[in-house]
Amino acid sequence: MAMAVYQHHLLIFLYVTLLIPTNSHNITVILDAFPDYSVYNSYLSKTKVCHEINSHKTVTCLVLSNSAMSSLVADQSLTGIKNALRHLILLGYFDQQNLHNLTRGTTLTTTLYHTTGNASGNLGFVNITNLRGGRVGFASTQLFVCW
Ligand SMILES: *[C@@H]1O[C@H](CO)[C@@H](O)[C@H](O)[C@H]1NC(C)=O
Ligand SMILES: *[C@@H]1O[C@H](CO)[C@@H](O)[C@H](O)[C@H]1NC(C)=O
Ligand SMILES: *[C@@H]1O[C@H](CO)[C@@H](O)[C@H](O)[C@H]1NC(C)=O
Ligand SMILES: *[C@@H]1O[C@H](CO)[C@@H](O)[C@H](O)[C@H]1NC(C)=O
Repeated sequence: MAMAVYQHHLLIFLYVTLLIPTNSHNITVILDAFPDYSVYNSYLSKTKVCHEINSHKTVTCLVLSNSAMSSLVADQSLTGIKNALRHLILLGYFDQQNLHNLTRGTTLTTTLYHTTGNASGNLGFVNITNLRGGRVGFASTQLFVCW
């Protein structure tokens, strides 16, 4: 159950290799062009998170490769996977230029989980921070992903 996942504060570390900031889109159609991200795309459909994404005008999707997805889905229920995916959808437009030009190198943003899940308090927020070596970290209560 989703609650169990959050009570454990399960922290998963993953690398994000594709960032899709978009203003108007059909996310599954965009991702169809990338076979390396087909597992992520199929889970967007299976969990119906694609409809939640498509209902927001501006989002940035942190897309996981097929191999990163295999770690994410291991030992998780479909509800757990759905909530994890919601944490990877930032409600805002973050392209490479915006990310490397954050005030003081850090910012907080909300995610799809914040609007659609059982989010309370700080749940559903992601802390974006510029790391050394040009990398960017995205930290939520459940996931730490690095781009
Ligand atoms: C997105 O594209 C898929 C596949 O073509 C389609 O089934 C779905 O209805 C589209 N969604 C929206 C919101 O247009
Ligand atoms: C970076 O941010 C500053 C302050 O918000 C802004 O004035 C400047 O235009 C931005 N630069 C780029 C390249 O986006
Ligand atoms: C994000 O987390 C870092 C490390 O914990 C912290 O230094 C930074 O102030 C946080 N950023 C915001 C906007 O809260
Ligand atoms: C919130 O949690 C309740 C009880 O666990 C569940 O029935 C409901 O579907 C959840 N709502 C959302 C939007 O996930």
